[in-house]
Amino acid sequence: MEVIIVREDRIGDLVADEIAALMARKPDAVLGLATGSSPLRTYDAVADRVAEGTISLARARAFTLDEYVGLAEGHPCSYRTVIEQDFVSRVDLPTDAVQGPNGGAADLAAACASFESAMREAGGVDLQILGIGTDGHIAFNEPASSFASRTRVKTLTDQTRLDNARFFDGNVDAVPVHCLTQGLGTIMEARHVVLVATGAGKAEAVRQLVEGAVSALWPATILQHHPHVTVFVDDAAAAQL
Ligand code: GLP
Repeated sequence: MEVIIVREDRIGDLVADEIAALMARKPDAVLGLATGSSPLRTYDAVADRVAEGTISLARARAFTLDEYVGLAEGHPCSYRTVIEQDFVSRVDLPTDAVQGPNGGAADLAAACASFESAMREAGGVDLQILGIGTDGHIAFNEPASSFASRTRVKTLTDQTRLDNARFFDGNVDAVPVHCLTQGLGTIMEARHVVLVATGAGKAEAVRQLVEGAVSALWPATILQHHPHVTVFVDDAAAAQL
């Protein structure tokens, strides 16, 4: 695991450099996209470079990590809507080249299985962008998630619902209780994982991620066993290293 401590306003460009290098090498690469605030500067930087013509995602494909269960299609907080707005609509990645687990499906288990098949058929993820929750979750793999887990239904913890209430006008009761999420086993198959964490609120999770014992109680620690992880953190998030 490579840990790079850098000013927050540099992180977007540094992750965009990783994406640019991948796209130059493999124009039909498969990207793993994350929601949350952590990747936003990366998405801004990639959108700038697509506008400049230095990156093209026209032949790429992308998979998102997770989705709330039960939000209507087009709900402003649905991760499908968010990723479309924050990223896909701003770059040359075709909308139909982006797929996420379908949290509105009548049969959620079948939706998870077909999402996993689509990822496999695409050849797996080349570069997975990740944030980290204050409790050490990645995607929506909350503490005690199995390291072998695949895409499945999970129950969100009270902490995660509180953390994410800001996207629901501060109303924690509006945050769904269930979600679909790639499993830790799914995420571990990405060939390169790039994790971004900023701010003092992430310091404990970052300490566990980098220096803690590998434990399902801090799900992100499984990344210590991944052969190619790059972690970008600012001073505040690195404060406990
Ligand atoms: C949510 C998402 C995660 C994300 C985490 C951190 O729970 N499911 O994928 O990493 O929030 O979010 P933020 O980057 O906004 O701190």
